[in-house]
Amino acid sequence: MTSTFQNKIVLITGSGGGLGRETALRFASKGAIVFGADIDTDTNSHTANLTKSVGTQMVPSPVDLGDPVQVADWVETIIAKTGRIDVLVNNASAAKFNLMDDLTIDEWHFTIRNELDSLFYTTKFSWPHLKRSKTAPNGGVIVNIASIAGHHASRAAGIAAHAASKGAIVALTRQLALEGAAYGIRAVSISPGFVLTPGTKAALADPAVRNALEQAIPIGRAGVPKDIAEMILFAASDAASYWNGSDIVVDGGMTAG
Ligand SMILES: NC(=O)c1ccc[n+]([C@@H]2O[C@H](COP(=O)([O-])OP(=O)(O)OC[C@H]3O[C@@H](n4cnc5c(N)ncnc54)[C@H](O)[C@@H]3O)[C@@H](O)[C@H]2O)c1
Repeated sequence: MTSTFQNKIVLITGSGGGLGRETALRFASKGAIVFGADIDTDTNSHTANLTKSVGTQMVPSPVDLGDPVQVADWVETIIAKTGRIDVLVNNASAAKFNLMDDLTIDEWHFTIRNELDSLFYTTKFSWPHLKRSKTAPNGGVIVNIASIAGHHASRAAGIAAHAASKGAIVALTRQLALEGAAYGIRAVSISPGFVLTPGTKAALADPAVRNALEQAIPIGRAGVPKDIAEMILFAASDAASYWNGSDIVVDGGMTAG
């Protein structure tokens, strides 16, 4: 589908996780120079090793994305090597789930820090390096990973903090598109439904839960990382050059009805 990202500078957060790893592999296989940040050094190194077999090896960095100093350092190190950023994929996340009766202030702040603050920091520090002249082709692209939780409440799970952060990501993306237009920056978001990743493994451990969930998805199965990674590559490509500011839900039809 997507032609090439030859020598494009691509930053991916959460590159040790399910969607992040698949996305890193796909960009690497299309010729991109990929920089991946994750707080989990083992899984991130593993992603880097895997990319070696499909393209240029991803450069893994141990970064706590909730710490603005670490994020600034990560971006500046990349800029010192490359001088520009072509694509920023804001994918990392960690959330706490609890019903309102039990949701603690710490859980709220943990979720906002690791889903929303982190995305703001990477965007803020990358912003000057994504800028191009308005008429230049191939301006910088920001692909934010939101969630259907940003659009729909849940009867089954306590997603208040997660829903707040993901809804904010959808709203922030619209604003980035407007402000970025003057500099040729395009910003979009993607809202996955239920995808099988290390992040959802625990929730799906019970076959009955997984079965009930899959029955609620018109396509009849949970998503796999490839389903979302393909959309991320499309979003970042020139083929998507007229997609700007809006969110696309990729959930097998789960929220269609
Ligand atoms: N899997 C799903 O069903 C699903 C559904 C909707 C949205 N999403 C979104 O897709 C994205 C990827 O999800 P996933 O399922 O691949 O998750 P995952 O848990 O497999 O991977 C997330 C990665 O982010 C990293 N991370 C978390 N906090 C960090 C921090 N402060 N600093 C650095 N790294 C940090 C983790 O270490 C992990 O490697 C997330 O934004 C998630 O909210 C996933």
